[in-house]
Amino acid sequence: MSESKRLAGEQAIEFVEDGMVVGVGTGSTVAYFIDALARIRDRIAGVVSSSEQSTARLRGHGIEVLDLNAAGPLPLYVDGADECDPQRRLIKGGGAALTREKIIAQASERFVCIIDPAKQVDVLGRFPLPVEVIPMARSLVAREILAATGGQPVWREGVVTDNGNWVLDVHGLRIVDPVALEGELNQIPGVVCVGLFARRPADVVIVGGQPPRVLR
Ligand code: 5RP
Repeated sequence: MSESKRLAGEQAIEFVEDGMVVGVGTGSTVAYFIDALARIRDRIAGVVSSSEQSTARLRGHGIEVLDLNAAGPLPLYVDGADECDPQRRLIKGGGAALTREKIIAQASERFVCIIDPAKQVDVLGRFPLPVEVIPMARSLVAREILAATGGQPVWREGVVTDNGNWVLDVHGLRIVDPVALEGELNQIPGVVCVGLFARRPADVVIVGGQPPRVLR
């Protein structure tokens, strides 16, 4: 339980408008958003979910979960983050849902990120950067990332993503140019998704507190 996560999640309801299909992220902060969304579920047209975990919670509340291909472009995406810099660029993927999260963020007109104050940093990289990889490419990708960045990739053993892939967590980075690093790591064969959300950052960040702070 985190009071600041709850306050951030509940504040994000302000961005939900009647009739919307809402993109929904993954994690403990998003769980509070989902619970708040349940209270107005009759006012929305449905949701697109970024993970099996969120889908289960949404369906548990009787909220209709739609396929992104059928839903088309979305007006709003609400998701948490592991780190957020002053330009609203993010590290995500602590919950291993980064690939579907990035797809929905890209498909959405407005990305509202909900965080507790501990997630705010000046420079991204203290939180190990998650990278989703095709299983057979795990050690190749790890070697390439080490050579390209000097960061230490660690296999998140035992974790299989909703897409059937594995996750490397890259330690020891200080990411001064997240846009460039996101592009560079995306080029490594076997990389499915990099947990840097810099090319498509959040549009709005809600920092949980009393009162919540809304950064645009
Ligand atoms: C999942 C994520 C989450 O948004 C991130 O890990 C933050 O989670 P939490 O709200 O539990 O702190 O990227 O892949």
